[in-house]
Amino acid sequence: MKLIYLDGHATTPCDPAVVDAMRPYFTEVFGNAASRHHAFGWRARESVDAARAEIAILVGAHYKDIVFTSGATESNNLALKGVTDVLGPLAKRDRHIVTVATEHRSVLDPSVALEARGFRVTRLTVQPDGLLALDNLRAAIEPDTVVVSVMAANNEIGVLQPLAEIGAICRERGVLFHTDAAQAVGKVPIDVEQMNIDLLSCTAHKIYGPKGIGALYVRRRPRTSLAPQMHGGGHERGLRSGTLNVPGIVGFGKACALCRTSMTEESKRLRALRDQLLAGLRAGIPDLHVNGSMENRLPHNLHVSIPGIDGSALFLALDDIAVSPGAACSTASAEPSHVLAALRVDDDLARASIRFGLTRFTTDGEIDDVVSRLVGLVPHLRAQQAALR
Ligand SMILES: Cc1ncc(COP(=O)(O)O)c(C=O)c1O
Repeated sequence: MKLIYLDGHATTPCDPAVVDAMRPYFTEVFGNAASRHHAFGWRARESVDAARAEIAILVGAHYKDIVFTSGATESNNLALKGVTDVLGPLAKRDRHIVTVATEHRSVLDPSVALEARGFRVTRLTVQPDGLLALDNLRAAIEPDTVVVSVMAANNEIGVLQPLAEIGAICRERGVLFHTDAAQAVGKVPIDVEQMNIDLLSCTAHKIYGPKGIGALYVRRRPRTSLAPQMHGGGHERGLRSGTLNVPGIVGFGKACALCRTSMTEESKRLRALRDQLLAGLRAGIPDLHVNGSMENRLPHNLHVSIPGIDGSALFLALDDIAVSPGAACSTASAEPSHVLAALRVDDDLARASIRFGLTRFTTDGEIDDVVSRLVGLVPHLRAQQAALR
């Protein structure tokens, strides 16, 4: 049975060119990048800095502003806990954070942890299309606000928030702007200067790089002060101690370089395939419901609900197609999606939703197969569901 992978928001396969670039770093160039007294260390260090530069170029940053972490979860934790922990006891009193109800759990959960430490948190709601209303953001920022954290692209519905406008508001109001760009870096253009971003989280495994390696961009001018969350050997400007994962970093750098050269073409191709998927599904399922804005959306994302079916029955039947239940939380819990709840999608539709994430390796033929499988299944699933009522 040939499996079709359309779950590119969960993770992506490594590009073979990434694996090739990483291979020597397991055996030949195995040095510790912190070893300053011999060539093994120097070579590792040079490769780490070359990769650092690739990541920086992709987001318009200086290479010294990139801090390596284990992934976007750690980057989000470092950003939010770092900017609040760095405040002295007096400066911490009654301080405030702004974020959004549709954020990934790796932003929402640290914000809960900060509440427990005495910070006030505003979680902004979104409009029915998933976009943040800028007036709500303006109204939420207070003189005591330390940081605004708004994700670049949503991991479920693929909606792109207006980063440049958000950054301009934050800069004008003198608050830090953090963005979780795990789903956006390498997929859509991002520029930390033009967008006034102070902190940006990203991760390699969403862009055809390896798992377990990510980065946090930390603006140096004007300086963004952070308290480290991992103490030890003082690696990464003292912000994240721990021996660097050199093969992972090299793979991350290669993945960024590939995205930089292929982004325009790849986006065009994936948008066309995604539109082909939507058109095919709509033709066979005329009452199909699309969740989130189609205009401000990642080119490789589609998120739909199919009225009258039960999502779990659909996923049982689709055993050769890897997609995600659109209503599943990003954690392993059976809780309905907080993102669809924020969009005010009703429960039945939320339970009947599917998230598609196309990848660099998705083909035209696979899209046709998925359309015919799904369209063919829907009448049976509807009959099944109707019989249960
Ligand atoms: C928007 C978003 N933020 C953060 C993460 C966490 O990234 P990582 O798996 O690198 O910790 C993910 C991954 O699912 C994500 O989609």
